[in-house]
Amino acid sequence: MENKEQLTPKETSEPESYYFELQASWGLTKHMGGLNATRDLIELCHIDKDSYVLDVGCGVGMTTCYMTKEYGCKVVGIDLSEMMVERSKERAKRKGVGDKVEFRVADAQDLPFKDNLFDAVVSESVNAFMEDKQKAVSEYKRVIKPGGYVGFNEVTWVETPPPELVEYMSRALGGAEFLTYGGWKDLLEGAGLTDIAAGTYKTTAWRQWANEVKQMNPRDYLGAWGKFLSLCFKNPAVRKYIKEISVPPKSVFRIFKYFGYGIYVGRK
Ligand SMILES: C[S@@+](CC[C@H](N)C(=O)[O-])C[C@H]1O[C@@H](n2cnc3c(N)ncnc32)[C@H](O)[C@@H]1O
Repeated sequence: MENKEQLTPKETSEPESYYFELQASWGLTKHMGGLNATRDLIELCHIDKDSYVLDVGCGVGMTTCYMTKEYGCKVVGIDLSEMMVERSKERAKRKGVGDKVEFRVADAQDLPFKDNLFDAVVSESVNAFMEDKQKAVSEYKRVIKPGGYVGFNEVTWVETPPPELVEYMSRALGGAEFLTYGGWKDLLEGAGLTDIAAGTYKTTAWRQWANEVKQMNPRDYLGAWGKFLSLCFKNPAVRKYIKEISVPPKSVFRIFKYFGYGIYVGRK
């Protein structure tokens, strides 16, 4: 990487803790590949109107609501954060799907569901945050019926990253730890899933941004920015965090050469 200095954040207390707090407050969570990647994941998991689906780490409930609205399936969304679950419930109400979805606070590594319950478990940009990734994926397998699918979309290193980039991404993105294609695929195999379908996709900073905008309606998007600016204005700790994780625009474009996203699906 050409500009080491600019990507190395200064020492702070725990900036990671602001990552999800900020996203929940401004009502926007994301994953790479946006809506196109979500559709690919849904198709690969064979989700249709008869499916009972678990959306792990649902964030503000965008995919949970989308699945039930567009595919007619019943969905349970879980997230570790109470604030995310609240945002999800508000979204479901706004979208008129409150009676078809359910949201709960729960840890992916210790799911509060009985064995063989769901037809599919999906998660988007969640396993990177897990302390014990293998335990989480084994939990997903436990709660799906025989023949059911586990599928996830995760940021994937496609070129060996410089250590300072790994450290920066972890600090800026809530302590995330990304794996390579082999690393993510091994988790499905390690859980005893079969018929693995997996692939990686490259993207650019522009395309990723455009995907995020496309996934939200303009009112939600402007509202999110309004909340974000108001938070920055009111909370000096948030301002400090944003300053510390900010990198020059040029670096943002450059770092996309090291990672893309991967879609990984296995069958029980
Ligand atoms: C980057 S966001 C992605 C949210 C959503 N899937 C999306 O694509 O918009 C990651 C989410 O995973 C949740 N999360 C992190 N660790 C978790 C865990 N152990 N169990 C459940 N959810 C978790 C976070 O609270 C956050 O809402």
